[in-house]
Amino acid sequence: MSEKARQFGEQFTVSLESETDFVGWRAAARALALAGTPSSAVTFLTPSATSQSLFAEASSPLPRPDDDVTFSISKVFVQKAETASHHSDPDRYNFLYHLLVRVLDEPNLMKIASDSDIRRLEAMVKSVRRDAHKMHAFVRFRKIGDADATEDDGRYVAWFEPDHFIVEREAGFFMRRFAQMNWSILTPKGSIHWDRETLSVGPPAKRSDAPADDATEELWRTYFSNIFNPARLKVKAMQAEMPKKYWKNMPEAALIPDLIAGAENRAKAMVAAMPTIPPPTHAAIRERHWSAEMDDTGETPPPPADDLESLRKQSETCRLCPLHEPATQTVFGEGPANARLVFVGEQPGDKEDIAGKPFIGPAGQLFDATLEDAGIDRSTVYVTNAVKHFKFQPRGKFRLHQKPNGDEIQTCRWWLGQELKLIDPDLTVALGATAAQSLLGRSVAVTKERGQLLESREGQRVFITVHPSFLLRIPDEKRKAEERDRFRDDMIAVRELMAA
Ligand code: URA
Repeated sequence: MSEKARQFGEQFTVSLESETDFVGWRAAARALALAGTPSSAVTFLTPSATSQSLFAEASSPLPRPDDDVTFSISKVFVQKAETASHHSDPDRYNFLYHLLVRVLDEPNLMKIASDSDIRRLEAMVKSVRRDAHKMHAFVRFRKIGDADATEDDGRYVAWFEPDHFIVEREAGFFMRRFAQMNWSILTPKGSIHWDRETLSVGPPAKRSDAPADDATEELWRTYFSNIFNPARLKVKAMQAEMPKKYWKNMPEAALIPDLIAGAENRAKAMVAAMPTIPPPTHAAIRERHWSAEMDDTGETPPPPADDLESLRKQSETCRLCPLHEPATQTVFGEGPANARLVFVGEQPGDKEDIAGKPFIGPAGQLFDATLEDAGIDRSTVYVTNAVKHFKFQPRGKFRLHQKPNGDEIQTCRWWLGQELKLIDPDLTVALGATAAQSLLGRSVAVTKERGQLLESREGQRVFITVHPSFLLRIPDEKRKAEERDRFRDDMIAVRELMAA
């Protein structure tokens, strides 16, 4: 503790620039902590606290630490403190400084889950994450202006009431999800606006600033009644997940009482087509993989990794799209990191989902045999998929493959893009339309563009061919043999391109 701060009982006031000025807090906290200032001598004020104070508080000049004093602080502390700084507790920045001072004195403190300060920090982090999760799920856009405007020229506005200061923090999620729309999200804790290129941050808004009702709401209602699953209805659990306080801003909420009332009959009707619960082994595999980095929410892409192995590890906790939920695990690409040739399939199938390896099921076996026939050594190539989780529909004892949609392909493109950036192959082969769409960023008619050498979004060479599972589905034996020959010829062409 600094002699100066102790001797003279000096008090410091730090006025932060915004409710989420973690950067300002961090700089001031660092200077204060380096000078050994105790938490009892520091008051952090946010704009809302300052406006309630009788006197406008100017920041005190911060102490200047001695040049030779430094400290390092654990990454976990910084990450959790950053998340907790979005909490609405007015005392949060003072608490975080108090904790920082403790962590500097007790380096193992972050690991002591029973400590009351650590419990308070964890509860704040959890509450902010939960609020973010609710925002992702419950924001409903309403179209404003010309009802006939296309999605491109219309504007969409949503009203949302978060518990914490999370609006700006969650902007990235909505920018990725609704990249092609002009939208605003208004909240009493700040607003964000996206014009398909730039994000701007605005002041708090009022409910009356947001439009009330329109045709989009009807769309939500239709969607909700279609996806509503009466067999899974648990009213208490549902209300815990979707607390009533959000209902008033959600168009589909008006349907809930009726759907609950009719649920019993609809549930009976569903029993015939009852989905299968995945075998317990799936749950065990999921457990194993999910425990690794559960700390991160996985809802936004991580910072780009420097090598394939780290990227694979990051992908294990991916929750960028809902496909991670029913799938057993992420199925990442496989092969040497210095491969010159990369094959991209659609998504893992049932067997791949359980084993955690791409192309090991029936399509993979046909693929291996064809590579061998064409003289390509599979152990030298890298094999991956456009989408890293198995998308399926449970049917009796089986899990039926379902094609990933455009959003899922686009969301998962982040992982494929990182794989291709790290490997930087001479040639990438798109096996089927999903892979081609992911690589080229547009829909591709494989029958028309098959055999062509095109350019990926990153400017890498892409060769288009069919997916091996297409060959497995051909019922007529003669045609099947012809198509297998064509696929083998494509692989020979690939080998020749590589040699050239
Ligand atoms: N089909 C694919 O596209 N990828 C796999 O990994 C397996 C089957």
